[in-house]
Parts: sequence; C-alpha cells; structure tokens
Amino acid sequence: MSVQASRLGIILAGGTGSRLYPLTSMVNKQILPVYDKPLIYYSLSTLMLAGIRRVAIVSTPQWLPELRRCLGNGEHLGIEIHYVVQPSPDGIAQAILLCASLIDGPVALILGDNIFFRTGLGDMLRKAAEVEDGATIFALPVAKPERFGIVVLDDDGRPLRLVEKPKTFVGNHAVPGLYFYGADALELARTLRPSARGELEITDLNRIYLERGDLRLEMLGRGCAWLDCGTPEDLFEAGQLVRVLEERTGIKIACPEEVALNMGFIDDAQFAALVAGMPASSYADYLSVVAGERTRREVGVL
Ligand code: G1P
Repeated sequence: MSVQASRLGIILAGGTGSRLYPLTSMVNKQILPVYDKPLIYYSLSTLMLAGIRRVAIVSTPQWLPELRRCLGNGEHLGIEIHYVVQPSPDGIAQAILLCASLIDGPVALILGDNIFFRTGLGDMLRKAAEVEDGATIFALPVAKPERFGIVVLDDDGRPLRLVEKPKTFVGNHAVPGLYFYGADALELARTLRPSARGELEITDLNRIYLERGDLRLEMLGRGCAWLDCGTPEDLFEAGQLVRVLEERTGIKIACPEEVALNMGFIDDAQFAALVAGMPASSYADYLSVVAGERTRREVGVL
C-alpha cells in the first residue's frame, strides 16, 4: 500500500459551530458524537486511508487542547499529529497558510465535519494522493446546491467553472470538503484575497488550478454518502446512517485504529496493546474481533 510520507494532511476543525449551539457551547464541534465515535475520527480516517501519516489539526486556541486530548500525538496510530492555532476563522484556504512551517511537499485538506462513505473509497483516495502536482477535487450531485461550492461541467463532464454557494442555479454538482494539492498550494494560497464574506475561499484556490488547466475532478457519484455536520439535523442524520450501516454489516466505519492496522501504520502487537488499554466498550469489543479475524486469516482458518 502506498504511504504518503511527505504529504501533509490538514484537518480544519475550527469555527464556532454556532449553528449547533448549545451543543457547541462547551465542546468543539469535531468532538461531538456521530453515533459511536467523535466526528473528527471520520475525517482523520479518510486522510489515513489516503496513506497520509503526517496530519495537522487546525483549530481555535480555545478548542485545540480538547482536540489534543482526543487524539494525542498520533503515535498510537503510527502517524504524526500536529496542532496548529487558527487565531480567527478567516476561511478554509487560511488553513494552508497556517500550516506553512509543516508543508514540505503535497498537501491534502479535509474539513473536520465532512464524512465520506463509499465502497472503494480507500483506493480512490490513494489514487488521488499518488498525483503529486496540480489539484484533485471531488464532486457529487446534491439537492441543495446553494449550500455548497459547485462545479459546473461541460458536455463531456469536464470542470468548466467553480461557483461558491450560487444564488441562482448553475448546476447541482457540489464539491465536498476534501482537496488534494501539489506542493505549490502554499504559494498559491498566499496570492488569495478575502472574498465578499471576508474569507480566503477554497473555491478561489481551486479556480486558480482550473484556470491553468491543472484541476482534476473525480466523480463520487451514486452510492456515495457525503455528509457535512453543520446543523443538529445533519449530525442526527449522520449518526443514524452510521448506526444503520454498522449494525447491518457488523463493520464499523472510520475507526482510526482499524485503519492504522489495515494500512500497516501499526503492527498486530501494537494494535493488540492499544485495544487492551481501552475501557470495556462495544468499540473495544469490535476491535478485538478485528484482531481475532486477522489472526485466524493468517493461520488459514478464515
Ligand atoms: C465549505 C466550502 C464549500 C464546500 C463545503 C463542503 O462551505 O466553502 O465550497 O462545498 O464547505 O462542506 P462551508 O459550509 O464551510 O461554508
């Protein structure tokens, strides 16, 4: 499995989460539960599935200590986690600028409240991560395009235009909060100017790549669940979806420990020690089953 040694994966876990008040009055949005695990586990697992082992979590000074308590330095997952302060929420693209000292190659950026679920997601992400220049964005149809960054396609399905939260209908293909960039992302982000709403827009950065013919678009299409958890309804629905999928299949979605094992970031012994240190819980029970199945597969029982 290809592992992205130098690519920095940035999780933007900032914001006040005002639409989730009072849930977010004492807790960072990314720590809120999506059924059986904190919201940030989903974005972290997505980056790890892409083979990324260097992660930067960007958040407000108020919430960084809490996020650090949740995930530590990443050693238990065989990755490095850095914590970067976002003094004020000045846009998604600002996260790249704030991580300048950690960037020494390509970058991936994911919004901490975005959840992706799809068969073959890992393969698709690793393919995107293998490309070390230009930008790769994703798209999928949505019912409410006015809520998202939209990519307008030409007749051959190629990206023609990018519009942030269009007021009138231009198309229904939303660009979710997951972006892969070459090492030049930092330099290009430095050229951005605040938009009318006073933010460094990620759509403006993507537009630079589009205009110079360097933007790849991957369709997530049917059968992909993409959720962003901005409102109580979103959070509740995400929890319901995860619960239904996990209960029907017996397989959990986005356990960073399981991803770390499957990606080869930690070995069986490290995984077993990790699980042994967890309190008695259905989460620990699940991971014990995962470990047992691997052993039985290795000795040829499964
Ligand atoms: C942001 C981006 C938008 C993207 C969306 C995905 O919007 O600006 O382009 O489609 O995330 O969640 P926000 O909802 O943070 O304003």
